[in-house]
Amino acid sequence: MGEASKKWVLTVTAQTPTNIAVIKYWGKRDENLILPINDSISVTLDPEHLCTTTSVAVSPSFDQDRMWLNGKEFSLAGGRYQRCLKEIRSRACDYVDEKKGVKITKKEWENLHVHIASYNNFPTAAGLASSAAGFACLVFALAKLMNVKDDLGTLSSIARQGSGSACRSLYGGFAKWIMGKNDNGSDSIAVQLADEKHWDDLVIVIAVVSSRQKETSSTTGMRDSVETSMLIQHRAKEVVPKRIVEMEEAIKNRDFPSFSRLACADSNQFHAVCLDTLPPIFYMNDTIISCVEKWNRSEESPQVAYTFDAGPNAVLIARNRKAAALLLQRLLFFFPPHSDADLSSYVIGDKSILQDAG
Ligand code: ADP
Ligand code: DP6
Ligand code: CO
Repeated sequence: MGEASKKWVLTVTAQTPTNIAVIKYWGKRDENLILPINDSISVTLDPEHLCTTTSVAVSPSFDQDRMWLNGKEFSLAGGRYQRCLKEIRSRACDYVDEKKGVKITKKEWENLHVHIASYNNFPTAAGLASSAAGFACLVFALAKLMNVKDDLGTLSSIARQGSGSACRSLYGGFAKWIMGKNDNGSDSIAVQLADEKHWDDLVIVIAVVSSRQKETSSTTGMRDSVETSMLIQHRAKEVVPKRIVEMEEAIKNRDFPSFSRLACADSNQFHAVCLDTLPPIFYMNDTIISCVEKWNRSEESPQVAYTFDAGPNAVLIARNRKAAALLLQRLLFFFPPHSDADLSSYVIGDKSILQDAG
């Protein structure tokens, strides 16, 4: 290839929101393909708030694949990144840009290298599902760049092989990851249960009490749980299947008391499994749980649901705007302004809740 033909660069930028599970995925039956031991259900956050932005570039002048995460070079050597790149490359289609005079055939994509720059606008590896937004965004951006024509379902299955929770982030609203039965993962897919308009009274408040990177990554934590916890099998086989049915029903009927009961119970059982792991894993923050539990019990019906992923930061889902404003007042009492906590509110289509809270 001559020097002149090495000058072009093609870039694509994509943005993908994170998702928070209300019925948790915790435990794999296949580590390589990332196949879970139970179904899970999540809510995808508004992309304006917690999201990953990823730019991918391709040029004949790049001599290797490279990635930068939040401004620092990050190794792509891990099997998960390699698998996503390989899966997307194998689906690349011919690309023509007459204006730039660029033509890339399906075969040529295999030998072209990419540069990836990704940025999370929220703490990375702190229990707010950065791996979900990160891999969903990476796969989506690479697919656009390489002119991949497969549907969202296929991209979601590829994202799953980057990080399990990522398969749910390609859908807005509520999504379910069906664990599937096949050994090759062909039926382990995410589907949308309801779109983002279905239950727009809900207000999600994220309480960032620590943006420090967690000590035990989700991958390591759930591997240890599968190997050592006795509770995890009971949870996966006896508890979660029933909760999945009930949670789908609660979402369909916008039944907040059931939604809140199930989400809180499932978060607590997931953390009980963490405690039942050897060595035990401590992720969550119990001050916030006590605060919400006390308040919910003092009202006729629950006002707020809480859920914690693998980290100390709370995701609080208020039944409506009024409850969200009251919740923030309560949280500000425990985490006053100028303390380490950053109580951001992420509201679907409305950003004034923090002001309402005074
Ligand atoms: P979290 O609770 O934030 O999902 P995990 O332990 O599951 O934490 O995953 C953190 C890992 O996810 C990071 O170490 C990194 O490998 C990957 N990751 C996070 N953000 C991105 C991103 N934007 N692009 C690619 N990979 C990412
Ligand atoms: C607690 O998807 O981060 O957030 O598949 O190993 O990358 P890997 O793990 P990850 O685990 C998420 C666990 C969770 C619950 C959930 O999102 O369902
Ligand atoms: Co994760």
